[in-house]
Amino acid sequence: MSDNEPVIELRNVDKSFGPIDVLHEISLKVRAGEVLCLLGDNGAGKSTLIKTLAGVYQPTSGDIVMDGEKTTLKGPRDAQSRGIATVHQFGGTYPLMSIGRNFFMGMEPTKGIGPFKVFDRKKANRIAVEEVQKMGITRITNGDRLVGGLSGGERQSLAIARAVYFGARVLILDEPTAALGVKQAAHVLRIVNLAKRRGLAVIFITHQVMHAMAVGDHFAVLIRGAIAADFRKGEKTREEIADLMAGGESMADLEANIDTYMETHDGHPPQPVT
Ligand SMILES: Nc1ncnc2c1ncn2[C@@H]1O[C@H](COP(=O)(O)OP(=O)(O)O)[C@@H](O)[C@H]1O
Ligand SMILES: [Mg+2]
Repeated sequence: MSDNEPVIELRNVDKSFGPIDVLHEISLKVRAGEVLCLLGDNGAGKSTLIKTLAGVYQPTSGDIVMDGEKTTLKGPRDAQSRGIATVHQFGGTYPLMSIGRNFFMGMEPTKGIGPFKVFDRKKANRIAVEEVQKMGITRITNGDRLVGGLSGGERQSLAIARAVYFGARVLILDEPTAALGVKQAAHVLRIVNLAKRRGLAVIFITHQVMHAMAVGDHFAVLIRGAIAADFRKGEKTREEIADLMAGGESMADLEANIDTYMETHDGHPPQPVT
């Protein structure tokens, strides 16, 4: 395996649900230490694509390739055991459980032997707090605190810290910043950069162009289930990316039209059509 061989790759992947074709001929590559931003409007097929990468769906045709070898991801557990970690919009954490418990969910450290094995709460808390602190969340000092009391950004950070700690090689983030305020989103973006520097292959899904531009090395725009554009950092401007996402409509033209409208209607915004 050479250094810049993709960790994970999709080759001509199609996905249909019965008669409905959702993904068409998707080809993508992600390398270690690289962030691929997957951009697309609602309904473009982003979630279907990442569920295919996470073993939830099997491609209808085409291949998933890991470290240069064709693979079948039999299910989410199989994908996880190969180091593919998915973090969903709300961090996938359990609000009524502690930080330590959430961190070790399904991977609990135990002490004692046989029937006397118990969850090692102190150890879990210590590791969880250390790991989230490494991600810059210094406000978290007590692993017994309930996750429900954390902010959205802190929950995302906890979920990402957990994936990194348990050895993820591919980190899939489904709209991690969509529900966050500016400051919290900035924090999550910094953590995405940390994960990248640790050598993870990151797939970052978003419809926010600014967030994508803050972390992306590579970009793919998905429109109606197909890759409409695929480019590297610096190759397109924010306006060009926004236009691509709007499916070829120029956002600048749209804005200019609204300005013209406002000028000709004494500054009254267009009325909604009823
Ligand atoms: N299980 C399914 N069965 C049928 N159609 C589906 C299924 N999942 C998604 N779709 C359709 O595929 C399209 C893309 O959905 P999705 O992947 O959720 O898009 P996005 O995440 O970009 O908003 C939508 O039109 C949706 O209705
Ligand atoms: Mg989605």
